[in-house]
Amino acid sequence: MNLANAFDAIVHGRTSTRAFLAEALPRAAIEHALHLACQAPSNCNTQPWQIAVASGDARARLAQAIAGEMASGRMTPDLPYDGRYDGVYRERQSGAAEALYGACQIARDDKAARSRQFMRNFDFFGAPHVAFFFLPAGFGTREAADLGMCAQTFMLALTAMGYASCPQTSLSFHPQQVRAEFGITEAWQLMFGISFGRADTAAAVNQAATTRDIGSCVLLAGD
Ligand SMILES: Cc1cc2nc3c(=O)[nH]c(=O)nc-3n(C[C@H](O)[C@H](O)[C@H](O)COP(=O)(O)O)c2cc1C
Repeated sequence: MNLANAFDAIVHGRTSTRAFLAEALPRAAIEHALHLACQAPSNCNTQPWQIAVASGDARARLAQAIAGEMASGRMTPDLPYDGRYDGVYRERQSGAAEALYGACQIARDDKAARSRQFMRNFDFFGAPHVAFFFLPAGFGTREAADLGMCAQTFMLALTAMGYASCPQTSLSFHPQQVRAEFGITEAWQLMFGISFGRADTAAAVNQAATTRDIGSCVLLAGD
């Protein structure tokens, strides 16, 4: 396979995976994916990111701490979050939700089942590893774009190695617990997490497929 075909396969091979096998990945593979992630471009090469990865006992402690916060209804994200979209963005959001719940055979009005599926975010969908992506406090939209490029490079690197991932804004809801686990100060604000590991390919939830509205997102001017 030539490089262009390989890249096509990697880009299309990355999907948000929401059921993982428990088996840990080799540490060298994780370090390699992090090394590649940090090759992402950034404004003036500022590299405005900190990536903190939890595995094993750290992962278990975090899942427990976050579950405790969710149970008491506390959410204190560093960055504003309301999860509401209008117009075409709402339509696309609904399409993704229908694909997800459809794959799990969860009915539109089954709020309890939807809630149970949502809560799996906080056990990292069973993934053995979770990476948290932090932006320096006070940095804004431009640097957040840098963090996004870094995160996508990380996920594509994992895909290229045969692994799977899920980016999760929901993992930014409890930044205090995450900072405490890693000893990170409030000089860093948590933007999202990425659960990763080997996909459970037999899980129904992983059959959900999203689409892209390329026609209305891309404009080409000139020859
Ligand atoms: C920054 C970001 C945050 C996301 N947060 C969540 C999340 O909290 N939970 C979840 O299940 N999926 C989350 N997703 C996954 C999106 O729903 C998914 O990327 C989208 O539906 C397209 O599907 P695909 O990733 O399979 O191509 C997030 C994606 C991104 C890029």
